[in-house]
Amino acid sequence: MDADFTPVIDGLAADGWTVAHGLLPESVLLALMEEARQLHDSDRFREARIGTGGSEVQREDIRSDSILWLDAASAPAGRRSYHRMIEQLRLALNSTLFLGLIDFECHYAVYEEGAHYDVHVDRFRASDARMISVVLYLNEGWSTADGGQLRLHFMDKMHDILPELGTFVIFRSDTVPHEVLPSTRARYSLTGWYRRRSFTDIFP
Ligand code: OGA
Ligand code: MN
Repeated sequence: MDADFTPVIDGLAADGWTVAHGLLPESVLLALMEEARQLHDSDRFREARIGTGGSEVQREDIRSDSILWLDAASAPAGRRSYHRMIEQLRLALNSTLFLGLIDFECHYAVYEEGAHYDVHVDRFRASDARMISVVLYLNEGWSTADGGQLRLHFMDKMHDILPELGTFVIFRSDTVPHEVLPSTRARYSLTGWYRRRSFTDIFP
């Protein structure tokens, strides 16, 4: 059965961010968790960089996770369910909020013990194509003592979200500052961005 995106879309439209659970069945979550760990164990992740285009730099003082970009076309069965849900959500966002999202890019990320990501927004200075950020967490049995919260800064308040398996966070890429706090154990996620067609991409 298809997921009901109504609460997700209502929350996003009202506040610019929201958290959802249960968008994917447990079996899919476990398959994603397993895939991320296997790819990480076989050394396929690389240290993440900040910026885009010609100006990418590695700055571990700002961001110290490792990532692996993913291709939907070659996704194994478990991840295909994720891409299917993401596509249904894209269509729902376009038909309700008229966002004109045409594209999606995503990567697995691992924050090793102590890794973090300073406060930032997901919209690059050089390109305004990124519209909506989505993060799906892939860690079983996470507790506050493990750290690794996603901290959203919104309306002068902080909202901390634990990276527990199946927790799905969606927020505006342009207006929601956020950070990843250091954790005491490896923290896995599947992070993606819906993109629109952008003038800055055509004439950089
Ligand atoms: C990012 C990011 C948040 C998270 O990759 O841009 O903010 O919780 N990730 O992993
Ligand atoms: Mn981010």
